[in-house]
Amino acid sequence: MSTAHFRNKRLPYIFGGLLLVVIATVTFFFLKHPPLPPIPDNPSYLNISLSVHERVKNLLSYMTLDEKIGQMALVEKNSIRTIDDVSHYGLGGILSGFGGKPEDNTPSGWKGMIDAFVSESSTSRLGIPILYGVDANHGHSNVPGATIFPHFIGLGASSDTKLVEAIANATREELQATGVNWSYSPTYDMPEDIRWGRVYETFSDDPDLVSKLGAAYITGLQENLAHPRNIAILATPKHYIGGGSMLWNTSSNENFKIDQGTTPGSEQKLRTIYLPPFQKAVDAGALSIMVGLNSWNDTKLAADPYLITDVLKGELGFKGFVVSDWYGVYEIPGGNYRAAVTAINAGVDMVMLPFDYKGFIKDVRRAVQKGDISEERIDDATRRILVAKFSLGLFDGDGAREVPDISVLGSKEHRAFARRAVAESLVLLKNKNDVLPIRKDTTIRVAGSAADNIGKQSGAWTVEWQGIDGNWLPGATSILSGIKEIAGKDARVEFEEHAQFSIDTPKADIGIAVVGESPYAEGWGDNSKPSLSEDDLTTIKNLQKVSRAIVVVLVTGRPLIITDEIDSWDAVVVAWLPGSEGTGVADVLFGKKLFTGTLPLPWPSHIGQLPIATTGKTNDKSDVLFPRYFGLGY
Ligand code: BGC
Repeated sequence: MSTAHFRNKRLPYIFGGLLLVVIATVTFFFLKHPPLPPIPDNPSYLNISLSVHERVKNLLSYMTLDEKIGQMALVEKNSIRTIDDVSHYGLGGILSGFGGKPEDNTPSGWKGMIDAFVSESSTSRLGIPILYGVDANHGHSNVPGATIFPHFIGLGASSDTKLVEAIANATREELQATGVNWSYSPTYDMPEDIRWGRVYETFSDDPDLVSKLGAAYITGLQENLAHPRNIAILATPKHYIGGGSMLWNTSSNENFKIDQGTTPGSEQKLRTIYLPPFQKAVDAGALSIMVGLNSWNDTKLAADPYLITDVLKGELGFKGFVVSDWYGVYEIPGGNYRAAVTAINAGVDMVMLPFDYKGFIKDVRRAVQKGDISEERIDDATRRILVAKFSLGLFDGDGAREVPDISVLGSKEHRAFARRAVAESLVLLKNKNDVLPIRKDTTIRVAGSAADNIGKQSGAWTVEWQGIDGNWLPGATSILSGIKEIAGKDARVEFEEHAQFSIDTPKADIGIAVVGESPYAEGWGDNSKPSLSEDDLTTIKNLQKVSRAIVVVLVTGRPLIITDEIDSWDAVVVAWLPGSEGTGVADVLFGKKLFTGTLPLPWPSHIGQLPIATTGKTNDKSDVLFPRYFGLGY
C-alpha cells in the first residue's frame, strides 16, 4: 500500500480532530467572553434631564461583571502599568497618593496628567469617567504654587464655620482648575492623645466643633456655583471611625506607636462621641467616606460589617460609597483573596490599591464566580459609586461644571484669604506685661528654626507626604518676611537663626523666637514626648540674653510639653502650621488684627495626663496646663 493511500485514509480523522479543537476554542472563548450587553445609540444614562437614580439604573443594566469590578478599583497613579489599563479595566478611580506628581510638577503639569487619564477613561466601552482623587488637606497642597492654608488644627482654633466654608471653596477652585474631582478631606478624627502623628490633620477633639466645621468644609468643597444641581468636588470625611482614640503602643505597623492602632470601642462612645459628626456629614451631602486604618477593638475597620453596613449605611442612611484607606484592606488577615472578600462583604465599595490592581480584579471576579461575594453586593457597590459620579456631573462634560482657569492656583485673592485664616487661627496663651502687640518704633530680634522656613511652617502634606524644607515654594511668604513687612520702616528687625547676636550690643526691645516641630506625616510623627528640641531651647535662651522681653511663637502640629519653660517666657503664641502665608502671623503680633483663636483641644502639662477624654478628664485626673477653648485676647 502506497504512503499516499495511507495519508488519505487518516485525513478524515485529522479534519475531525481539528474541527473539535476549533469548536472547543470558540466555546471556551464565548464562555470567557460572553457577548456584551448591547448599548443603544443614545442610552438614557446620558440623558441629562433624567434623575441620578434613573441614569444609574440604566447604566448598570449594560454593565458586565468585569466592568462593575473595575469601578470598584481605585488605583494609585504611580502603579498604573500602561495608561490603556484605565479603559481596558474600566477603572473607577485614580489617586495621586501624596507626592504622586507628574514629571512636570507645576499646575499645568498636573492638569495635563489628569486630563490624559480622564480622556483615556472616556474611551472605555461605556465611557464611564474616572474619579481623580488627592488629599487636599490644607489647600491643593500637592502642587507647588498652590495656596497652602493652615492645617485643620488651625482652622479648629478659629472655630469659624464661614471661614472654613470659604477656604474649602477656594480649595475647590484650585482643585478643579487642575482637573481633580475628589478630595480625601475633611478629617473627622478626634485626637485624645497628642503623641499621635496626625493631630494637626484634625479640627478638634470636640465632636460638636468637628460636626460644625466638617459640614462647613463639605459644603464649601462640594458647592458648584455654576451648576447647583451637581456637586463640584467630592468630599470625603475620614476616617470612619474612632480615629484619634487609639491607644499608645497598639499600632499594627511595626514602625509606629499609635497610628493604625486599636480604638477601644464601646457602643456608648460610638453613639455619643464618634457617630454624631458622621451623621452631620451625611446630612451635609457627603457621598464618599473613608474607613480608617485603625482597629475597633480587635477588628480592622475595613473588615467590620456592623460599623460599615449596619450602622453607617443602615442607621445613618449613608447613600454614597465607602472607600478603603491605602493598603488597609490587605491588612485584614487571611491573604489577599480573603482580605478583599472580607472587606467587600463588610461594606467597602471602592478599594484603594496602591500596588496591584490586576490581582484585585482577578480575586473579586473569582469570588463572585465561587459565590464568596454576591452579585447583589457588587451591584450595590457599583451603584453607590455611580451615584457619586452622576451627582458630580461627570457624564455631562465640562458644561456641567464650573472650571476655573489654572491661574487661580495661588491667586492673590486666595492668598489674602489664607493670610486672614492664619490670623484667625493664632492662639495667645500668655502675655505678661502686655508685651504684645509689638509697637512699630522698636528694636526686634528674630530667631528660631521656623522663623524663615516655609517648608517647616507648612508642615507635612505639602508637595511631599513628609513635607519639605526651605523657602522655594513659589509665591509663599515666611513668618520672618511677614514680620519685616508689617514692622515697617520705623522698626529695626534683625534675624539670626540660632540667636547668636553679639552680647556687646544693647538689648533689643523684644525678641521673637519662632520655634517648633519639623514636618512629619502619619505614624512617622508618633512621638512619646512632643516638646521643643534642645536646639530650639538653646535658641530661646540665647535670644533671652539679648532681648528685654521674649515672645515665643510655636509652629507646631499639636500641643507641646512646655511646662518647665513657659514661666521664663513673656508671651506665648501658638501658630499651628500656618502654611504659605506667614504674614498672617505678623498681622496679629503687631496688632493689625486681634487674637480671636482658642485651643481646639486641651494642652496637657505632662505625658501622664494622656489620653484626655472628650470631657476634658485627664488620665491621671490632674489639671491640664490650658483647657480646650482657652485663648487670651488684647
Ligand atoms: C492616609 C489617608 C489618605 C491616603 C491617600 C493614607 O496613608 O491614611 O488619610 O487619604 O493615604 O493618600
